[in-house]
Amino acid sequence: ASKSVQVKLVLLGEAAVGKSSVVLRFVTNEFQSNKEPTIGAAFLTQKCRLEDRVLRYEIWDTAGQERFHSLAPMYYRNAQAAVVIYDVTKASSLDKAKSWVKELQRQAHPNIVIALVGNKIDLVRPLSLSLGFTPHPDSEEEADDATATPDGTTSGDAGPVCLRQVPREEAQAYAAETGLLFSETSAKTGEGIVEVFTAIAKKIPIE
Ligand code: GTP
Ligand code: MG
Repeated sequence: ASKSVQVKLVLLGEAAVGKSSVVLRFVTNEFQSNKEPTIGAAFLTQKCRLEDRVLRYEIWDTAGQERFHSLAPMYYRNAQAAVVIYDVTKASSLDKAKSWVKELQRQAHPNIVIALVGNKIDLVRPLSLSLGFTPHPDSEEEADDATATPDGTTSGDAGPVCLRQVPREEAQAYAAETGLLFSETSAKTGEGIVEVFTAIAKKIPIE
């Protein structure tokens, strides 16, 4: 018979990077395109099945808005795992993620398992794939400009396409030298989400 272990996990990261969306995808396999900002924190649970055991995640989804920063220690203090999220289309969100990692390394449990996650990769697919069309041979040059908006996004049936601001290699190198798990995800498509929690589960020591 497999043992069930409770694992306290905290999500941290700048506002709007997709913390709640990642958890929602993991727990209910849903996505909401206009998710409201979290106030304070939200609590959810989800089981994670490994080959030899089942873990029960007790998840604290914290609020990223700066006015809630001082609450965070309450949620990471007893955590065995942390998922620190940034948005691959927003460079400043990686800086914020790094400062959360530093805070965890100073203040959280010394054996805490930390995963760095770059979310929203659905937004940085190659343009032709994202828009699902083959450019007309005559209009190939103008195709991008036609729908581009001043903030660098492009509208189309598949949603806005943004420029990647955080190279995968840069974040991956930082994670490697800092001893963090690393992956890129999309809460929108579900890509990579379960894998984040499975990889963490494998690093949680068996009691
Ligand atoms: P706070 O609670 O304020 O800290 O924000 P949060 O980090 O929980 O972000 P939230 O999950 O509320 O998502 C913010 C916005 O980004 C919402 O409009 C989401 O629909 C959107 N979003 C989240 N994840 C993704 C993703 O993977 N892809 C895309 N395209 N949008 C996403
Ligand atoms: Mg939230």
